[in-house]
Amino acid sequence: MSTDYSIDELLMQREKYVGKALSIAHEKPLHIIRGDMQYLYSADGKKYLDLVNNVCHVGHSNPRVVEAGQRQMALLNTNTRYIYQGLTEYIERLARTLPPSLNVGYLVNSGSEANELAVRIARSYTGKKNMIVMEGAYHGHTTMLIDLSPYKFRGPGGKGKSEPWVHVVPIPDTYRRRGRNYAKEFNTVLDKSGPIAGFMAETMLSCAGQIPLPEGYLSSVFKQVRAAGGLCIIDEVQVGFGRLGTHMWAFEEHDVVPDIVVMGKPIGNGHPMAAVFTTLDISASFEEMEFFSTFGGNPVSCAIGLSVLDVIEEEKLIKNAEKIGNILIDGLLKLKKKYSLIGDVRGKGLFLGIELVKNRDTLEPAIYEAKEIVREMLKNNFLLSIDGPLKNVIKIKPPMVITKEDAIKTLDTFDKVLSKIVSKGS
Ligand SMILES: Cc1ncc(COP(=O)(O)O)c(C=O)c1O
Repeated sequence: MSTDYSIDELLMQREKYVGKALSIAHEKPLHIIRGDMQYLYSADGKKYLDLVNNVCHVGHSNPRVVEAGQRQMALLNTNTRYIYQGLTEYIERLARTLPPSLNVGYLVNSGSEANELAVRIARSYTGKKNMIVMEGAYHGHTTMLIDLSPYKFRGPGGKGKSEPWVHVVPIPDTYRRRGRNYAKEFNTVLDKSGPIAGFMAETMLSCAGQIPLPEGYLSSVFKQVRAAGGLCIIDEVQVGFGRLGTHMWAFEEHDVVPDIVVMGKPIGNGHPMAAVFTTLDISASFEEMEFFSTFGGNPVSCAIGLSVLDVIEEEKLIKNAEKIGNILIDGLLKLKKKYSLIGDVRGKGLFLGIELVKNRDTLEPAIYEAKEIVREMLKNNFLLSIDGPLKNVIKIKPPMVITKEDAIKTLDTFDKVLSKIVSKGS
């Protein structure tokens, strides 16, 4: 990438030409010029450990993925109206990672496009329009998905829930909402919603604050949704492809089989791709009108997608996610004993959340401290970010190639940073 311009010049050009709704990570923006596996390199010569990018799943600029894309780009790129091996080979490979009933796939270009398609399919199968989503959820940036994303319509710039066909269930958050009957809460919403097309949710909530779903929750609500005639759509855009360290798909941990599964982000390691899988029966209801996505499933995307699957399998990255995730969780739990600022450590594999509170009884969110931690970690060359409805949850979701050494350095630095922030505050 060219470094002809200074960061100040680039920021000025951005200010002039780029839509202002686009945000920039970190108060002091980073001018990144190169990525190499779990590291990012800035124009001023710094090397950062990327602890937030769950898109570059098998590592930034992973050479095997780069080579696969370059080779296919030089040979052929066309669309799904032609017959080529890459499409069928790739869809079959993905289908083999899923329960046998989910054997019909559609390839598209982004998580938003995939979720849109999932809702369209659910509506065409059920003939119904109502959808149930989780409080705090983000499912994409299109008009319909903003309506289905409380994270957006209730967040900054949002105008609240505007569509009568959108129904929101409370988060089954065992930290802030302990002891509630989450299945009953779901039933109350379902009772009022009228006939539904489906329920769409992530298997571990991301934007809502890195929240694992309690055991038994999905199986209970799936039963309710199906009894009401709706379909269960699982959005694996953030947590899929083995990130949780035990299974390829996060829903597998909950012993449920969704009716529609949506994949995105890590699927192409940064190449714009996404997918929707469903059953033969459900997809049959969607055959009347032609479906065509110009770039979805093109030969270059399929070659890249296949190479991502090869790397995950051959380099045993799911096992690595489990191993490194456990090191991080153990270390963070030790830090929780040392610092009362850490209210909760949660998640699994390489999808973790650290919820910061000023007081462990009142759970008052430590918003300022969360920002300070991310700022100080950045000064030490670690990239982290904050999310959750209260903006007090630090997220860890690095490329799956992160090592034990990286994890130990992260924990050591986190300890030093916490110690500095806590002593400043006291
Ligand atoms: C859970 C989830 N679903 C869907 C999307 C939308 O994906 P995309 O940005 O590729 O359109 C996102 C993006 O952040 C997401 O986090």
